[in-house]
Amino acid sequence: MKIILVAGARPNFMKVAPIIKQLEAKRKTNKSIELSWKLVHTGQHYDYEMSKVFFYDLEMSEPEYFLDAGSGSHAEQTAKVMIGFEKVCVKERPDIVMVVGDVNSTLACSITAKKLNIKVAHIEAGLRSRDMNMPEEINRIVTDSISDYLFVTEKSGIKNLKREGRKDGEIFFVGNVMIDTLFYYLDRLEGPMNSRKPKERIVKNGNYGIITLHRPSNVDYRDACVDIIGALIEISKDIILLFPVHPRTKKNLESFGLMAVIKRSRIKLMSPMSYMEFLKLWKDAELVFTDSGGIQEETTALGIPCFTIRDNTERPVTIEEGTNVLAGTTKVNVLSAYKNYKQCNTKKKQIPELWDGKAAGRIVEILTGPLK
Ligand code: UD1
Repeated sequence: MKIILVAGARPNFMKVAPIIKQLEAKRKTNKSIELSWKLVHTGQHYDYEMSKVFFYDLEMSEPEYFLDAGSGSHAEQTAKVMIGFEKVCVKERPDIVMVVGDVNSTLACSITAKKLNIKVAHIEAGLRSRDMNMPEEINRIVTDSISDYLFVTEKSGIKNLKREGRKDGEIFFVGNVMIDTLFYYLDRLEGPMNSRKPKERIVKNGNYGIITLHRPSNVDYRDACVDIIGALIEISKDIILLFPVHPRTKKNLESFGLMAVIKRSRIKLMSPMSYMEFLKLWKDAELVFTDSGGIQEETTALGIPCFTIRDNTERPVTIEEGTNVLAGTTKVNVLSAYKNYKQCNTKKKQIPELWDGKAAGRIVEILTGPLK
């Protein structure tokens, strides 16, 4: 069986890494299966600190193909990935193309593969925000609609996919590969497993918060950005906030003239970080403000309070069982979410089902197992 794995943007690398580890383990232990794989990096993210440093941190070898798609409008970026990826698929003729997450590269490569009659496996299938203004929601819906294997991280995904007409045999509830990576590297940072148990972690000794912001709806529009930054500056009077800034956000903070006011506040701007550097920082944070998808999940896995600066989430389990709250996107709403937390931090915290560090193993077993 020949597999092509696709990664293109920062949040993809930590999802692909544990799958490669499990494929390697499978090849070593089961010689009866002919198993080979190649990694394609689309080049959607290309700066050193958005891309290459992750390969080093996550102990991944260089990708076999680099498509150098780069930035551009959605159509330009998607088209560049499709053109490059089609050539790879025609040359390699894989049995399965494996895509992760919801970025433009996920969409581009799934469509390209499917039109060449290659089976598509989507890791992180079924998540829905029901917000069609999010490019990621479009990417998720289209990718799922043409995928042959739908690997789901939380039960809401099963429900969503069934509502869209997908059959039981196509949907596999396997857990969360991003959490595989988190637990694997957390152990290597901290030693004993018990230091990550939620009960032992909650806020004590934490004396700083973290901010990550990059979603176009929050950072591409002046009014929205000013409002959110205004709320965070207010909160930083209470607690220092460390802010590794995404390139998209940096450009906009500069063009909206917000850098000076941030620099006068207790928000500390930092460059984007490698996986390990960032993990070291956020695992000991008292709280996190974010509009990222993955960080909502990672904070839930470690029991760290997370304020999602959005009006919706495609990851409801992080709210129902985890530490996530939807803080909204206006100054009033973000401040009110923070105030509520300060007054009664009683949220129950539970690690969602199958977020146990073994999701990638399950995926590889299913793909190489007797059923398929
Ligand atoms: C993309 C994903 C988003 C994901 C995010 C993680 C889509 C539609 N969006 O958003 O789902 O959460 O990645 O970061 O796929 N840039 C650089 N250097 C880089 C990469 C980008 O400077 O290495 C700048 C470019 O100016 C580019 C902008 O950031 O135009 C945005 O990059 P892009 O890949 O279009 O989207 P992200 O906002 O990163």
